[in-house]
Amino acid sequence: MNRTVVRGVGSYLPAEVLTNDDLSRIVDTSDDWIVERTGIRERRRAAPAETTSVLATRAAEAALADAGLVPADVDLVLVATATPDYTFPATAVQVQANLGITRGFAYDLQAVCSGFVFALATADAQIKAGLARRALVIGAETFTRILDWTDRGTCVLFGDGAGAVVLEAAAAGEERGVLTCHLRSDGRHRDKLYVDGGPSTTQTAGHLRMEGREVFKHAVGMITDVIRDSFASTGASAETIDWFVPHQANRRIIEASARKLGIPIEKVVITVDRHGNTSAASIPLALDTAVKDGRIRRGDLVLLEAMGGGFTWGAVLVRW
Ligand code: UT7
Repeated sequence: MNRTVVRGVGSYLPAEVLTNDDLSRIVDTSDDWIVERTGIRERRRAAPAETTSVLATRAAEAALADAGLVPADVDLVLVATATPDYTFPATAVQVQANLGITRGFAYDLQAVCSGFVFALATADAQIKAGLARRALVIGAETFTRILDWTDRGTCVLFGDGAGAVVLEAAAAGEERGVLTCHLRSDGRHRDKLYVDGGPSTTQTAGHLRMEGREVFKHAVGMITDVIRDSFASTGASAETIDWFVPHQANRRIIEASARKLGIPIEKVVITVDRHGNTSAASIPLALDTAVKDGRIRRGDLVLLEAMGGGFTWGAVLVRW
């Protein structure tokens, strides 16, 4: 079967920076605590008019420019988000309209922090099945809108942002592209990380609730399991991958996962210090950073991984 290649990557961060010191004026916390426990130094907050679709559109435009393509070249717009503009229609159709795309199809995918990995796997499968030729796969979130700003255990962790890649059906024999995808979920853990509202329950958007310690306890094991599956199915290993681009939730989780897998820290892309946990946006934001600063180059073997609410988790291996 032909591969699906990444043609371009882009991202967008809102202008407003919230530092740890800014947050220490809102809740009982400190820069020392946040940096030591999470590695986060600052995060971004979207302006009131900057909805998730606005962030997604900006990231998509950047990814298209990077790919040397125009919106009319795209026939699938897939937005991974847990913070959609509206209950419906999908944020992706707003992005489609913003970009002026009038063919193909657009929809949202909801797997919280694993959303980008799930969306990449889904777009890869749909391209391979012939449903689309070129896809914009976007992770976009406005988590600051659903935080409880009185809960220091959660409000210091999350931020807003968006990242996107352009995926394309490759010609026969292409060596680059998505090599393997492994997705998992286990709904028994739903109460450990959730939002306490929704259209069918409270008719409100609700606020994020998390048992941080419980999530932390499961994260490293789940992440390393699914990565080992992706290594086993491809013959890749900690030695052969060039870059590990994990979901950016907590520096300690990232470091513990890399250590357990034997991946040297020099191969790990870490951006959580600058944008906190941006849920589905975190991996494409980190990818864009490492591509633009010259670390990730054409032909590199790149390992993506995420874990989040549900629980959901997954890994994707890409020959860049
Ligand atoms: O993206 C989806 C996946 N989500 C995650 O991966 C998040 C996973 N969890 C975590 O990253 C960590 O569990 C946290 C960063 C949320 C918390 O770190 P922790 O080392 O697990 O701390 P803890 O929850 O065990 O809390 C330790 C102490 C508590 O005080 P006591 O009970 O020991 O007196 C908390 O009340 O730290 C306190 N605390 C804070 N102190 C200052 C909790 N939040 C804060 C805060 N500032 N912001």
